[in-house]
Amino acid sequence: MNAEEFYARLKTHASSVEDELAILLKGSGSYGHLMDAMRYSALNGGKRMRPFLLMESAALFGVNYQASLQAAAALECVHCYSLVHDDLPAMDDDDMRRGKPTTHIAYDEATAILAGDGLLTFAFEILARETTHANASIRSDLVLQLAIAAGPSGMVGGQDRDLNAEHMNWGEAEICKMQAMKTGALIEFACQAGAILGGASEDEKLALVNFGKAIGQAFQLADDILDVTANAETMGKNTAKDGERGKGTLVGLYGVDQTREMAIDLVKQAQDSLLPFGNKADILNSAAHFVVERNH
Ligand code: IPE
Ligand code: IPE
Ligand code: MG
Ligand code: MG
Ligand code: MG
Repeated sequence: MNAEEFYARLKTHASSVEDELAILLKGSGSYGHLMDAMRYSALNGGKRMRPFLLMESAALFGVNYQASLQAAAALECVHCYSLVHDDLPAMDDDDMRRGKPTTHIAYDEATAILAGDGLLTFAFEILARETTHANASIRSDLVLQLAIAAGPSGMVGGQDRDLNAEHMNWGEAEICKMQAMKTGALIEFACQAGAILGGASEDEKLALVNFGKAIGQAFQLADDILDVTANAETMGKNTAKDGERGKGTLVGLYGVDQTREMAIDLVKQAQDSLLPFGNKADILNSAAHFVVERNH
């Protein structure tokens, strides 16, 4: 799959996810202001890479895209919440995200905190709805695994480590652990959720979890490289922030070139995990490649 084909497919899925999120977040009632801020945080932006991975992983098992869209949208809500909170003054203190002012700038801090809380909670409501999957045990497995991925042993725990690691001169092992938690866990869940929705065997699930772990790590290495090499306009967020804030990154430790080599190795590792699926995994194979080759 060449770059043009891959990006066209990513765009098609992104627009389905956008439509689904717009429908799911339509509610207004007496919470109009909060829902506005939730919509502002979740709509009109982002690569929608996690939903893409979820939908393409599910497709390996014959699940059609429409049937995995709701779970994909739930995951994207958690990701969007993580960005809203990541940008808060008490965390990374950023004023631009996805080419727009961050939620706490467009609204205010309290509203941004609550919009994040709202998106997080709403994600679990979506997953638990019968329309996500007819089988209740599949729904409860999705809820459990997303809770684990998003919580203290996953994304939130990783964010805590990220903040505490500022100016700590961490080594590779600590940095990789933090990144596996803050970024890897949700990406791993995306791949695992596809397997859960598709009723995959334990071996197949494990293969996808391993794939998710490797590209999750590669994804954050690419983000850290782009922080140094890309400009804010292309990224839609401020760049050259990590060094200034003393973030623990492999780019800080080893430089861009060596980090890129490590990311390329991880892509190979990810692609090896897909071998049991043969040609059926061509799209996921390409996704692994573009996680590192992306320019934003
Ligand atoms: C940014 O994630 C935060 C990280 C975990 C590196 P993305 O690069 O997926 O951001 P969007 O969703 O495309 O805006
Ligand atoms: C974010 O990592 C990870 C999250 C869980 C949101 P970064 O702090 O590097 O993400 P950006 O660069 O602000 O998107
Ligand atoms: Mg951060
Ligand atoms: Mg940040
Ligand atoms: Mg970053």
